Amino acid sequence: MKKLNVGLIGYGFMGRTHSNAFRQVNKFFSLGYEPVLKAVCARDEAKVKAFAENWGYETYETDWRKLIARPDIDLIDIATPNNSHAEIAIAAAKAGKMILCEKPLSMDGKQGAQMVKAIEKAGVPNMVWYNYRRVPAVTMAKQLIDEGRLGRIFHYRAKFLQDWTISKDLPQGGAGLWRLDVKAAGSGVTGDLLAHCIDTALWLNGSIANVSAMTETFVKERKHNLTGKIEKVGIDDACAFLARFNNGSLATFESTRYARGHKALYTFEINGEHASIAWDLHDLHRLQYFDHRDESKLRGWRSIHVTDGDQPYMKNWWVPGLQIGYEHTFIHQVADFLAGFDSQTPAHPSFRDALETQYVCDAVLKSAQTGKWEKVPKAK
Ligand SMILES: NC(=O)c1ccc[n+]([C@@H]2O[C@H](COP(=O)([O-])OP(=O)(O)OC[C@H]3O[C@@H](n4cnc5c(N)ncnc54)[C@H](O)[C@@H]3O)[C@@H](O)[C@H]2O)c1
Repeated sequence: MKKLNVGLIGYGFMGRTHSNAFRQVNKFFSLGYEPVLKAVCARDEAKVKAFAENWGYETYETDWRKLIARPDIDLIDIATPNNSHAEIAIAAAKAGKMILCEKPLSMDGKQGAQMVKAIEKAGVPNMVWYNYRRVPAVTMAKQLIDEGRLGRIFHYRAKFLQDWTISKDLPQGGAGLWRLDVKAAGSGVTGDLLAHCIDTALWLNGSIANVSAMTETFVKERKHNLTGKIEKVGIDDACAFLARFNNGSLATFESTRYARGHKALYTFEINGEHASIAWDLHDLHRLQYFDHRDESKLRGWRSIHVTDGDQPYMKNWWVPGLQIGYEHTFIHQVADFLAGFDSQTPAHPSFRDALETQYVCDAVLKSAQTGKWEKVPKAK
């Protein structure tokens, strides 16, 4: 097995999911490459050292530029807040490194296009961590659609609901709360949560032609952790939009951090001519399926427990009936990435795929401002 030296930047929530994936992937998937946890980088030396020891990284850095300059690093993995993705990715591409980048790709489409240009010029393998594509039940939804089981698609409906920013006393900015600071996040729920829904939707149902959106910022001012001052909140707390897909289907998308009682309720439902499917992150190993072609007296929604060896990814895990969870989606993503560049059939979503999602996000935010339907520019 060939070794692939990983340099991870950022040791927060995603730094942990990625580290876990790199460590586990070869235990469960037969691959030509083995990720080696060579170095982790973050700015706080004591914390990054402790993280390196806990996860088994051989070394650490406190400046990502030094990490990129190291000849012993093959792959740069970006798990830092959104406002740093572009600078790091472009520098890594110039240094000829393979790149994995967290979502959303960039602060906006313009910046994302610059990243795609740099990555494609360098010709380096790349992928963006839209991990929900690799929940086995979601991958199976893709298979059912591609097999034509749903027939013509009429409707796509997606939601991503949370409730953690309702308190007006919650500050914005800095560690842990950069998501509330528009300068670090680029946008609110649109780039953070709806980007996931949009990526899945583009993958399952093709490109989006135009959108009509509304957004709201329920808490207009919050104390900023970095300045200590009360500052205007620039992110969207909630966003709902209508979309027309290029295949003629109609869609509704909704996301908020103000849906009391919901922590990470990502759901989608797709209605086709012959069949419908539905999925819910809180019950992630199940795919709901209704097929109108079933015998009428037995017709109804089936709840498919996606845990069998002939269902996506599951032959690599335990025995039929035993389910897996959230962290496995990242392991699947690393497995597909390694198999992809080994076989010269790159895994997706690439930076260019993620740019398409970025363009939809831009059109959504623009429509919320103009009050008009906005066209989504083509990324491909
Ligand atoms: N795929 C998913 O489901 C998913 C889930 C959560 C977050 N994300 C994305 O992952 C990224 C990180 O989010 P998170 O939740 O892990 O955030 P986090 O706040 O938990 O961690 C961010 C890390 O980046 C480090 N960092 C910030 N600036 C840095 C710099 N200049 N140099 C080195 N390190 C730096 C911080 O110290 C911290 O370790 C974001 O882009 C976010 O949108 C994706």
